[in-house]
Amino acid sequence: KPDYLMLAIETSCDETSVAVVKGGRQILSNIVSSQIETHRQFGGVVPEIASRKHVESITVIIEEAFKKAGVSPGDIDTVAVTQGPGLVGALLVGIVAAKSLALALDVPLIGTHHIAGHIYANQLIGDILYPALALVVSGGHTELVLIEKEGQFRIVGRTRDDAVGEAYDKVARALKFPYPGGPHVDRLAHEAQDEVVLPRSWLEPDSYDFSFSGLKSAVLAEINRSRMKGETPDFSALARGFQQSVIDVVTGKAMRAAAEFGVRQLLLCGGVAANRGLRETLTALCREANLPLLIPPHVLCTDNAAMIGAAADLKWRRSEFTSLDMKAEPGFSL
Ligand code: KG4
Ligand code: ZN
Repeated sequence: KPDYLMLAIETSCDETSVAVVKGGRQILSNIVSSQIETHRQFGGVVPEIASRKHVESITVIIEEAFKKAGVSPGDIDTVAVTQGPGLVGALLVGIVAAKSLALALDVPLIGTHHIAGHIYANQLIGDILYPALALVVSGGHTELVLIEKEGQFRIVGRTRDDAVGEAYDKVARALKFPYPGGPHVDRLAHEAQDEVVLPRSWLEPDSYDFSFSGLKSAVLAEINRSRMKGETPDFSALARGFQQSVIDVVTGKAMRAAAEFGVRQLLLCGGVAANRGLRETLTALCREANLPLLIPPHVLCTDNAAMIGAAADLKWRRSEFTSLDMKAEPGFSL
């Protein structure tokens, strides 16, 4: 059934999201309810509060997704849900909702990997050419994933400490921006007249791993040094220096891996893919290297259920369904 209807649910962190996807590619609705306002006062996501907020909103968001798509529950052919990784209590809310719906509607359930979702968000905007390399950059993840064939993932590099988005948020806090601060640092970096040049963390010459905690500390040290001298730190020059270091290393490693593994396409995904400097630099480098690049629009880069539907489509086409006794997998591996 090529134009089958899927209900997809994502609740792994602080977004309650439900989508109706037709034929694995066409988004009929993709409702995202963010809890950011609630978590902002704590400077980050509080797991217990996240679970409770998901419980409060999940049924409302499911109804909204059906309504916006103009379909009724009886039309649905399958239910997909994020199984992990993520916050266990948050994941459970989506999983319980998905299981209940699958049971009530007597349709198959498909458990999906959150990162596979970020990667396959690209399938909603174009065709993926294999082998492909995905640069996954979000608040919780920083990974270079080689996809030899559809659904066959190999992590060739990952962060050894902070995720890129996490480093952005920590630096943003030092620059007095509210959570999540990534977009503020991005904007400030673009407005900057000067740049405080900061170190690049390349690690071992042949490594595709990342490390951002040293860079974050370098920003804090620069702020302290200025204050000790009685000067006002130049926040915009620091933002620029931080952003340039991140972009150099992240795009440098992605391009080197793309060449080494001979991929036919590069995919950028995750919330930090919204970063203007990162998009521009990667676009220019790929054009130079004659390498096709896909970057989803912003709404499909940050956590959303349509991307979970896109990843679940791979399993639907192979009739790889998940049993109703499926559990949340907070440390799910790709
Ligand atoms: O993928 P996402 O929505 O949530 C996770 O799964 O983590 O990513 C959120 C992260 C936050 O850390 C946020 O600060 C960062 O993405 N972010 C950005 C930008 N927009 C969002 N970081 C840098 N520049 C941006 N423009
Ligand atoms: Zn995510």
